[in-house]
Amino acid sequence: MSVSNSDNWITAVMALRNARQVVVFSGAGVSAQSGIPTFRDEDGFWKRFPPEQFANWRGLLQMAATNPHRVAEFVYNVISPIAAAKPNEAHLAITRMEQYVSATVVTQNIDRLHQLAGSTRVLEVHGSLFDIQDVSTGKKIRQFQHQDLAAVAALLKEYMDMQRSILSLLNSLRQFYSFDLNINYRPDIVLFGDDLPEPTWSDACRSAEQCDVLLSVGTSGAVYPAAMIPEYASAAGATIINIDPQPCDGYWLQGTAGEMVPRLVKAAWESDQNGDE
Ligand code: OAD
Repeated sequence: MSVSNSDNWITAVMALRNARQVVVFSGAGVSAQSGIPTFRDEDGFWKRFPPEQFANWRGLLQMAATNPHRVAEFVYNVISPIAAAKPNEAHLAITRMEQYVSATVVTQNIDRLHQLAGSTRVLEVHGSLFDIQDVSTGKKIRQFQHQDLAAVAALLKEYMDMQRSILSLLNSLRQFYSFDLNINYRPDIVLFGDDLPEPTWSDACRSAEQCDVLLSVGTSGAVYPAAMIPEYASAAGATIINIDPQPCDGYWLQGTAGEMVPRLVKAAWESDQNGDE
């Protein structure tokens, strides 16, 4: 077995087996093996697009006025891998947990892959690229399909390749978003400085406080308030298990999500053994 610390492994397996309620707290690492880059790893988004400029609406709008090509490049790099992504073994194993225990997924991801895998209780604390929101009312006015995102990505690529002018791009994007003065529709995602969506955030906090085990998968835990979820669970007495290639708090299981989550689910509920398979 390649798990670095077999004591952690056995504790994690037993804690899951005995749990009544589990919260899976996921970050970009759970989707890395679906082809979506993380934020803070070497090839992460924020290494190529500094968050001071790209992770808030004000920075993005300011840059759109001076360097629309760079904004298009950023949006294209966010959208196109998500439009093409399929759930990986980690998402599928997390979905399988529902067969054995009451499981809630609290995700920071905007890629909707947990739902696509079949998870039925998913709280998207940073919103979703697939929901379109009316900014003035905060209401969701439309749901995108994957082909909508792929179409937006294709338009952006044509503009980036200089096959389309900025005016032509904006005009074509109107069928998906609205940039008019009175109507402002945009993806229902959380950027830096935004409030987290309600009641989703309160539900996530409550789930964390009520769970027996919090399984954190593929997150640096660097962004608050989302990173309070494991802290709330720990303060309420839950066992914290962390799956990540990089060292983490709690019972750390070193490895990728695609490898470790299915092994953990199998060991906890689908085999008689505690440790090695
Ligand atoms: P990060 O990029 O901060 O962290 C990704 C984590 O995934 C790191 O701990 C990696 O070691 C780990 N990782 C990489 N590949 C993995 C794999 N195959 N399997 C498992 N883990 C792997 O991404 P997040 O923690 O999700 O928010 O970032 C949190 C928030 O920061 C995002 O939701 C986003 C960003 O700014 C906003 O923009 C509001």
